[in-house]
Amino acid sequence: MRSTGWADLYAWQVDRTTGTPLFRQMYLQLRSAIVSRTLAPGTRLPSTRELAARLRVARTSVISAYEQLLAEGYIAGKARSGTFIASDLPMPSERRPLDGIPRTSGKAPRVSVRAKALAGLRAFVAESDATPFNMGRTRVDPRTVAAWRRVTHRAVRSLDAVHLGYSDPRGLPELRETLCDYLRVARAVRCDPDQIIVTGGTQPAIDVAIRVLLDRGSEVWVEDPCYPVTYNALAIADVNVHPVPVDAHGLDVAAGVRAAPNARAAFVTSSHQFPTGVVLTMPRRLALLAWARETGAWIVEDDYASEFRYSGRPLASLQGLDDAQRTIYVGTFNKALFPGLRIGYMVVPRPLMNAFVHARYLIDRQPSSLEQTIVTDFMRQGHFAAHIRRTRAHYREQRDALVGELRRRAGDAITVEAPEQGMHLIAYLHGRRSDVNVERAARARGIIVRAIRPMYRNARPRSGLMLGFSGYSVEALVPAAAALAKVITANA
Ligand SMILES: Cc1ncc(COP(=O)(O)O)c(C=O)c1O
Repeated sequence: MRSTGWADLYAWQVDRTTGTPLFRQMYLQLRSAIVSRTLAPGTRLPSTRELAARLRVARTSVISAYEQLLAEGYIAGKARSGTFIASDLPMPSERRPLDGIPRTSGKAPRVSVRAKALAGLRAFVAESDATPFNMGRTRVDPRTVAAWRRVTHRAVRSLDAVHLGYSDPRGLPELRETLCDYLRVARAVRCDPDQIIVTGGTQPAIDVAIRVLLDRGSEVWVEDPCYPVTYNALAIADVNVHPVPVDAHGLDVAAGVRAAPNARAAFVTSSHQFPTGVVLTMPRRLALLAWARETGAWIVEDDYASEFRYSGRPLASLQGLDDAQRTIYVGTFNKALFPGLRIGYMVVPRPLMNAFVHARYLIDRQPSSLEQTIVTDFMRQGHFAAHIRRTRAHYREQRDALVGELRRRAGDAITVEAPEQGMHLIAYLHGRRSDVNVERAARARGIIVRAIRPMYRNARPRSGLMLGFSGYSVEALVPAAAALAKVITANA
């Protein structure tokens, strides 16, 4: 589709107080807009009649201006399709600085301390390209695509007032009700629809939680190793972050209590610790909840990817065990469906609801209403449950193919277990192999893996590679695993 440009919105003007003839003013104005590329080559210009009416000038003035520009080659006329800015104009050697905005002086810009910290963060950006073993991808099979299209088309056809105006910052009531029914059954979450806030995903939920729960200097527990995005969000929030080691039972609650007994909050991935995949055991869950209850701390439970559990007993959420309303439960459709969707949710203890809703309102007011209708219908019509059922089977098969190939090709160099849940696994490297070096060498060969060592803070790091398997067919995973095995064995 070819854009006709923005000339209709251009702030055309003439000044009747100067002695400059109107046609010349228009000629100069348009030429300058063309030369500065304010109006791009190929832009369609208003007709002489429209422009004359808009500026309340005689049409002959506009015609004269256009004719001169035409003669000089700045614009071109096309029969019946109007007048366009010539598309073969040479690019100006240098773009004019935007009016009023000085060029950068070379000095560092004056920004907040926080912005400087942001600039120094190690990038942890999920790439979107479909290259194994990128973690940012999910598999959306043709049946899900077809159902999503149908539901979307229906929602668009029935576009109405609720989609066009401002709506409840917590999200549409029907989505909150549907979510509540789902979370009670699937995750044993205790909730009512009025405790749910629909968000753009996990990240905005974490952001709101940080704003509401923590002050500058507040002590807070994070898992060590930790999901870098959450760690970074806390690191730039001027809070006092205490990394608490994770062992085979999950977060070491006793170590947390020793290090920061009065921490204000703990951010945890209890059902599938990121990155290790360890499940927080029941005694640890109870210990964490008891600590929160006794000290008045809050727990922020990031329950990402819990929909994909392949074996073992289904795990209830931590929030579901919490009798004292200390847990903020965070979930996301960006993993269960696809990351481009940008919809997630949180379940908030009643006493916090008011502050959470206000914080969200100040950030982005409300989620997109049309998108919420689509998700609601998708869930209510049974497509979501069917998608999860089918996708779980795909992911299990993909996981097994990846584990099998890695063990076959690099079994002496790595330890790899099939995780019971989630969308990635970890291959721990034997001996003195450096995961960071292997990550670099693999990337040079077009294989995306993520070293886990940089995710550790104070705990003794292990050398391992995170491999996302959810986004790729078995046919794509197996050769990539073979190629990765070569890189690993060559990096002794
Ligand atoms: C630990 C963890 N939480 C949450 C998410 C999902 O985040 P979002 O919903 O913002 O896409 C991810 C994605 O990789 C993750 O690894």
